[in-house]
Amino acid sequence: MAKNNTPKTERLDKIISSQGLISRSEVKQLVKKGEVSVNGNVIKDSSIKVSYDDAIVVCGQSLSQSRYTYIMLNKPKGVVSSTDDKRDKTVVDILPDELKRKNLFPAGRLDKDTTGFCLITDDGEIAHNILSPSRHVTKTYIAEVDRPIDVENAKKAFLDGVVLGDGTVLLSAILEEMPCADKHLFKVIIKEGKYHQIKRMFASLGTTVIELKRIAIGGLPLDNSLPEGFARLLTDEELKSIVENDERF
Ligand code: URA
Repeated sequence: MAKNNTPKTERLDKIISSQGLISRSEVKQLVKKGEVSVNGNVIKDSSIKVSYDDAIVVCGQSLSQSRYTYIMLNKPKGVVSSTDDKRDKTVVDILPDELKRKNLFPAGRLDKDTTGFCLITDDGEIAHNILSPSRHVTKTYIAEVDRPIDVENAKKAFLDGVVLGDGTVLLSAILEEMPCADKHLFKVIIKEGKYHQIKRMFASLGTTVIELKRIAIGGLPLDNSLPEGFARLLTDEELKSIVENDERF
């Protein structure tokens, strides 16, 4: 049977409002004002069917071409990285209403007491790519530990691949000391995400992680202007920079 390559179509107002920034009724108003065009033509009816391949412009801004949602959340402490939990609030629960939609889940887990960049999406494929160690998408953390360490030894141990207490051999990781007068702070770059990985890596050096924050996924840093507990959509460029390969190791 011949494959049907016709792109899937949806109502224009549905596609625009599914971006999470403008409601359907607002889309109607913008259409009335002539602020919406599809493939260069100003549209007068917000119910027309368009496809995700069409070039949709709203108030002079191109709409993201993606049918999936990608959200950067600056995770606060005390929420869990799952989609539902009996006791605690989840990273999906704390999203603002305009970003909430079906099938969202966190791409990778941060511990309840870890803060920082949590990517929330409904795109299973990108989540798989980000999490798969073979794809080498790095995750960068700032860790504060409870006591000084032998930094040169630790760097070498991380680069060689730490062997955890249960015999798990970790992939090569980068450790950088972050000079600080009254804290023992380190930047750590890893390319996999084993259970409590950073905490266990420091435990193998005889230290305890007391604060942990994820500050980047791949080439995309956490937006510094996003306070803890706040979230926003990623741009297409930001999404691309997540999966850029890191050539450092
Ligand atoms: N490593 C940890 O130990 N905890 C996290 O939340 C993330 C990485």
